[in-house]
Amino acid sequence: MGLFITLEGVEGSGKSTQIRNLAEFLTARGIQTTLTREPGGCPIADKIRTILLDAENKTLSPLSELMLYAAARAQHVTEVIAPSLEAGNVVLCDRFCDATLAYQSFGRGIDRGVIENLNRLACQGVSPDLTVLIDCDASVGLERARRRINATAGPREERFELEELSFHQRVRAGYLQLATEQPDRILVIDGAATIKDIFASISTQILTRLAEPLRAVR
Ligand code: TMP
Repeated sequence: MGLFITLEGVEGSGKSTQIRNLAEFLTARGIQTTLTREPGGCPIADKIRTILLDAENKTLSPLSELMLYAAARAQHVTEVIAPSLEAGNVVLCDRFCDATLAYQSFGRGIDRGVIENLNRLACQGVSPDLTVLIDCDASVGLERARRRINATAGPREERFELEELSFHQRVRAGYLQLATEQPDRILVIDGAATIKDIFASISTQILTRLAEPLRAVR
């Protein structure tokens, strides 16, 4: 089995830049790496992503939203994540189950137990070995994310960026609570540090985790 690593954070936390750099770093070391993201990661889940992030879908209900994230995840796990892990790859995934708890439970207020059950069903036994939470002030991240959307051509994936600041503050607090509950799995990194320093912290952790099974065998 490979190693499953997820990156999480509020909008504009810088996780997408970090995950791209990490994929290059691991690939350059000859480590078979799968870089993927949620919602999306395969054609059917990408279609669901379009519905979820389209700012025109103002009437999408919180429950429908939750089910669509779960449907996209079930497809993504089946088609991409589980086979890549079985092939022994390091799988780097930009957001996963913790995002559903942070956004749909802490953010939207849906019962946490319901989401945990749905996550379990969609994940089909797959769970992250390591989750890196890039913690960032919600207003700083939101400002950064809105600037990026305005500078990007093509469809505006901004349904969440249009949410008010208090929503994003609840999401941040939710992520931090999850990290407090699961300190062995969730590593919190200060998103205010430089891109280079954040990368150094994350890559060191990943190399340590990759060396662990070898150490156990010796
Ligand atoms: P992205 O901007 O990191 O690509 O993420 C897409 C958006 O989807 C982001 O605003 C967070 C949101 N999201 C959820 O609300 N629940 C989830 O389960 C996932 C994976 C993402």
